[in-house]
Amino acid sequence: MIQKKLLFVCLGNICRSPAAEAVMIGKLKKAGKDQHVICDSAGTIGFHSGAQADLRMRKQAQRRGYAVTSISRKVKADPDFDRFDMIIGMDDQNVKDLYALTRSPEHHQKIFRMTDFSSQLSYNYIPDPYYGDAADFELVLDLLEDACEGLLKYLEKEVN
Ligand code: 4NP
Repeated sequence: MIQKKLLFVCLGNICRSPAAEAVMIGKLKKAGKDQHVICDSAGTIGFHSGAQADLRMRKQAQRRGYAVTSISRKVKADPDFDRFDMIIGMDDQNVKDLYALTRSPEHHQKIFRMTDFSSQLSYNYIPDPYYGDAADFELVLDLLEDACEGLLKYLEKEVN
């Protein structure tokens, strides 16, 4: 039975949020909980809609055992804010853009930032790696692995 639906959101939906989706699915599988949680991702802009995730992210995530397979799409107030339980932005601007889409206090309560769930690493946002190099993509994956561990613990209270 599906108990939680998570939507990860960044700007372009080709680097950070598709990786967050893949890392979270990987962690859920390891914990035997992937049957109970739906993960998806989207971007606040539609510029890359229909595109695969950035090849650099796909390759670097693959080396850690995560398959980044999602196709970019833009987040939509309708139906995303009704469909998902948690809508998780990667940085300040993503969170601000998500708040601008909301139309009710219930929608507001669904918005989180990825680093709310960080446990070991002390970043308060996931930096955009798009114009960066391999080290920037590795940092994103480090931060996402850490935050997804925390998110898994958060969900464990609610997902059996
Ligand atoms: P993302 O990275 O938000 O992590 O997917 C970006 C992807 C594309 C662009 C910026 C950031 N862009 O300017 O096209």
